[in-house]
Amino acid sequence: MNRNNPLLPFALIMFIGLILITFLSLQGVVGVKQGASEEDKDPAVQLYQDRCGGCHGDKLQGSPIGPALTNIKLSEEEIESIIVNGKGEMAGGFLTGEDARTVTKWLASKNEAPTPDNSSDEFAKIKDTYKTVCQNCHGEKLQGVIGPSLVKSALSDKDMIHIIVNGKGSMPKNLVDENTAKELVRWIHTQK
Ligand code: HEC
Ligand code: HEC
Repeated sequence: MNRNNPLLPFALIMFIGLILITFLSLQGVVGVKQGASEEDKDPAVQLYQDRCGGCHGDKLQGSPIGPALTNIKLSEEEIESIIVNGKGEMAGGFLTGEDARTVTKWLASKNEAPTPDNSSDEFAKIKDTYKTVCQNCHGEKLQGVIGPSLVKSALSDKDMIHIIVNGKGSMPKNLVDENTAKELVRWIHTQK
């Protein structure tokens, strides 16, 4: 029989191989399903992976085609507008309507909302005020020039604020309002 059909052993091996491949890949699929986390069932995640993951990476990490989306400083409106209308090399319309909303909310939740008034920004503003209004007389390092050093001042906060608002000697009054004066004093204390 072998003499009649020399290909038979190969066909047999191939057949066994095919069964093995089918079996193993089925096992693989089942394995993935079992390992799926709660998050993968989130419709937003599924939409994202379907329509966006190819370019932005399945974990938002980015790819050679699209940038990472892990640290975008965009508002929800901006994100939704990019999804619907596109931006630069990214065409719009990968998602629309309710689906675009869903993914927008999810993306925004993955990114920290911009915080315009955290304390370092607040001081940045007051530093600016100091620089333009006070620095000429009190020095870049508050060390004193025409006016005395502000880091070595023995005055109470109340007196300092009073002088800043009302002036004293050759220091003019009304350079800043009272609230700004309070902020300035708060900042001056951090400079000691
Ligand atoms: C075909 C590839 C591709 C697909 C699909 C795609 N994007 Fe993009 N995306 C890009 C590219 C490229 C950019 C950069 C565009 C630019 O700034 O010129 C981008 C930019 C963005 C930005 C702005 C990032 C930033 O920091 O400014 C967001 C947000 C975004 N994509 C979200 C999505 C979402 C959500 C989806 C799915 C609905 C999606 N993208 C689908 C390629 C893609
Ligand atoms: C035109 C120069 C000038 C400007 C501008 C100026 N100062 Fe003065 N400042 C002085 C002089 C001079 C004194 C000392 C007054 C005195 O004792 O007779 C003084 C005193 C002070 C004192 C009291 C210090 C102490 O220990 O007695 C404080 C606090 C002070 N300035 C804060 C500020 C702040 C804050 C600003 C900006 C809003 C400012 N100054 C702008 C000249 C200036």
